[in-house]
Amino acid sequence: SRAIKIAPSILSADFADFGREIQAIEAEGADWVHVDVMDGHFVPNITFGPPAVAAFRKHVKTVMDVHIMIAPVDPYIDAFAKAGADFLTAHVEAGPHTHRTLQAIRGAGMKAGVALNPGTPAEAVEHLLDLADLVCVMTVNPGFGGQKFIDMTAKVRKLRAMIGDRPVHIEIDGGVDPVTAPLVAAAGADVLVAGSAVFKGGSVANPSAYGANIRAI
Ligand code: DX5
Ligand code: ZN
Repeated sequence: SRAIKIAPSILSADFADFGREIQAIEAEGADWVHVDVMDGHFVPNITFGPPAVAAFRKHVKTVMDVHIMIAPVDPYIDAFAKAGADFLTAHVEAGPHTHRTLQAIRGAGMKAGVALNPGTPAEAVEHLLDLADLVCVMTVNPGFGGQKFIDMTAKVRKLRAMIGDRPVHIEIDGGVDPVTAPLVAAAGADVLVAGSAVFKGGSVANPSAYGANIRAI
């Protein structure tokens, strides 16, 4: 069976203490660090942009997984490459030329991801799978942490079959917790983003709670 990676989302971290929060989740067993960029336009919330992501890079020793909920995407690809993103995941709904966007992300030296909102069918990315290293299935409407999981297991199963033997990750983002994680893992997901479920009950002063939360997923 597939090895499951846990990617804590620092959207649920202390925004005044990102460096120590990143160090804490990595010390407590995070496989990747998930970074949610929101523009107040594609999604109804604003987080941070490339300069902040470049500052996070100095602390991330694992894999920096940058999920950009922004439109347009293409003018910012080079900035995220310079900021040190390992994976850059853009939404298929963010513009009319996702094929070009994924080519540009790889061209800038990053792994390319494509994300699907809950209302978007698997078929929307079928012709992009040779250009993608990761497909992110949103299990909430993007914009905020701590929302209720929307069951997308049928979409995950369909995508895993479409992907076949290509080396493409399926990442789940939104509402992942100890109850929902086994459902999406059984359907074929191998990277689980978790924000509130990792950070709840802990802090940089009490990081062992993060480790217990990660192991519980
Ligand atoms: C949602 C973000 C997610 C979010 C997940 O817009 O893309 O990464 O932080 O948070 P939880 O795990 O709390 O649903
Ligand atoms: Zn995300």
